[in-house]
Amino acid sequence: MDNRAVGIFDSGIGGLTCVREINRLLPHENVVYFGDTARIPYGTRSRSTIESYARQDMNFIRRHDVKLIISACGTVSSIMGARKDYDGLPYTGVVIPAAQAACAATRNGRIGVIGTPATIRSGAYGKAIRAIRQDAAIMGNSCPLFVPMAENGITSPDDVVVKEMTARYLKPLKKENVDTLILGCTHYPLFADAISEYMGADVTLISSGAEAAKYAQSLLTRMDMLTGNEENGANTFYSSDSADMFEENARLFFGGEINGSVSEISMDELIEG
Ligand code: DGL
Repeated sequence: MDNRAVGIFDSGIGGLTCVREINRLLPHENVVYFGDTARIPYGTRSRSTIESYARQDMNFIRRHDVKLIISACGTVSSIMGARKDYDGLPYTGVVIPAAQAACAATRNGRIGVIGTPATIRSGAYGKAIRAIRQDAAIMGNSCPLFVPMAENGITSPDDVVVKEMTARYLKPLKKENVDTLILGCTHYPLFADAISEYMGADVTLISSGAEAAKYAQSLLTRMDMLTGNEENGANTFYSSDSADMFEENARLFFGGEINGSVSEISMDELIEG
């Protein structure tokens, strides 16, 4: 038994889809979340910048007495590789959980991956999938405009811009006849309806943040690290930009009001600790 909180971080608010799933699966756990809203996006930055931001984010999270760190960010997870701990603290990203789910779901062994430019460039999903299933065929494509579109609430499958961008980004994957598609970025589950409509109902969509939450549940269970709290856990949110903006934008990803306090932290607190 371990009553410390679960730490989750992301480049912004997209990782709240993972918090929502942790709240659903493990309602008694306390959650500490950090969203680096002042420095989003990460996905268009270089590997070394993403690495250094990720280290600062994880150092911030670990100062809150957490038992597990989850990177809900597809970009950070891709750059961090298959590591299982961060300085001795259990860690998981979204790549391995999503790769496992995709390998379990595919029938024809043809798996598509969409993510930010840094995620696709890293080849991390391909590596993780091949480690499970050597003969898998993997096709990737980056969808950079999906992030600003999601943050501006442009996600409806009936929206002409959504239709156009979905077709443009997914055409090469549809042509390759993938039967399973990893939504390898926090923001892409918001386009699930549009993507499903374009790809066809027989293509299985894997939401990386939700898979990471399930993976964390089985990890904590296996390691006998679930909380002994009997009442519902609390969420505590931190952001590196305005707390009010965090709360307002969070609704898009959390599916309603977020249930927890939000505090803004300064860059000094984040960088120097
Ligand atoms: N959170 C990022 C990801 O999942 C998307 C936004 C960004 O580019 O930072 O890859």
